[in-house]
Amino acid sequence: MKPMKKIYNWGILAPGKIARKFALELQELNNAKIYAVASRDRQRAKDFASEFGAVKYYDNYKALAADRDVDVIYIASPHSFHAEHAKICLENKKPVLCEKAFALNQREAEEMISSAAKNRIFLMEAFTSPQQPSYKEAKKLVDSGELGKIKYIQGWFGFNKSPYNSSHRLLNPQLGGGSLLDIGLYPVFDVLWFLGIPLSISTSAEIASTGVDQSISVRFEYSDGVSASVFASFYSASGVGTDILCERGTLRLRRSSAVDQWLEIDIPGEEVKCLTWDTGECGLKQEALEVMNCLEAGKLESDKMPHSMSLKLMKVLDHIRRKAGIIYPGRD
Ligand SMILES: NC(=O)c1ccc[n+]([C@@H]2O[C@H](COP(=O)([O-])OP(=O)(O)OC[C@H]3O[C@@H](n4cnc5c(N)ncnc54)[C@H](OP(=O)(O)O)[C@@H]3O)[C@@H](O)[C@H]2O)c1
Repeated sequence: MKPMKKIYNWGILAPGKIARKFALELQELNNAKIYAVASRDRQRAKDFASEFGAVKYYDNYKALAADRDVDVIYIASPHSFHAEHAKICLENKKPVLCEKAFALNQREAEEMISSAAKNRIFLMEAFTSPQQPSYKEAKKLVDSGELGKIKYIQGWFGFNKSPYNSSHRLLNPQLGGGSLLDIGLYPVFDVLWFLGIPLSISTSAEIASTGVDQSISVRFEYSDGVSASVFASFYSASGVGTDILCERGTLRLRRSSAVDQWLEIDIPGEEVKCLTWDTGECGLKQEALEVMNCLEAGKLESDKMPHSMSLKLMKVLDHIRRKAGIIYPGRD
């Protein structure tokens, strides 16, 4: 007889905006249950629990980590708290899916990974791109050599929801604010995923009154004249995209939201091909599925978003921030 599929009891740590989206998608999975939630505010935890049918709610994060019946925790606090909150969970032997940016800097990311290794517990950064079919297809095409070598990559991520409150997470240095760590890391990831670590990096940033970047441009140089540029901004309604210019054609990755994405393959002399995917294949639940598959297989990290990739990304983000003069006081 086939063994019954385990139902994983998820704990939600910090029920903010993205936690709500995650919980909505988690409800679509038949091997996941939103079991518990923890907020700094009891009423907020209670409201979230009743909305999503969680049986437990807590007014502090440590109690969630200590709950014996919680199988895995999703961390959705601002990035300046990811290291602290991940360590609380890992020390309580709870597997962790931690929102991006993984940490504030490389040192904190290393501490999280060491804690996971010491406690022999699973840890993964909730980074959607490598889970998404458009990215997998683009990578497959590039690796096949069909388009020749990559000559240039241009990636961008921008929105304009101004006017902003300077104490909001996006602009507040105490909460890890800034366009690079919030949205710029997506096109930076793309460049690293397709081209690897560059030989040199140069930047130019527009700094908000709070000291963090409200817009940033980054240029990456590689050998043989290959290069890439990245742009991120809280004041540009640019949307999200990455163009990969190769010797024999161009790949265009676009998404208007995590679940609405497409890939255009443009090879001169051929009809432009546009691939789109069912929304069910593209969302946050792919991350939750990957976590549960890894736990099922007894893995301590995911091959799709391994610790080495989170570290590589954090290291490059640190480098970009140093070049642009973006400092998180007391942390860098
Ligand atoms: N993967 C994605 O697509 C995606 C999208 C958006 C955001 N994110 C990431 O997810 C994280 C949360 O983003 P969000 O937009 O959901 O933020 P948010 O709406 O502000 O929620 C963050 C939550 O963190 C908790 N928190 C703990 N300490 C806090 C503090 N000192 N100040 C403010 N909040 C604090 C709060 O919950 P309680 O007070 O109730 O405990 C708050 O609701 C960020 O790291 C962000 O980069 C990821």
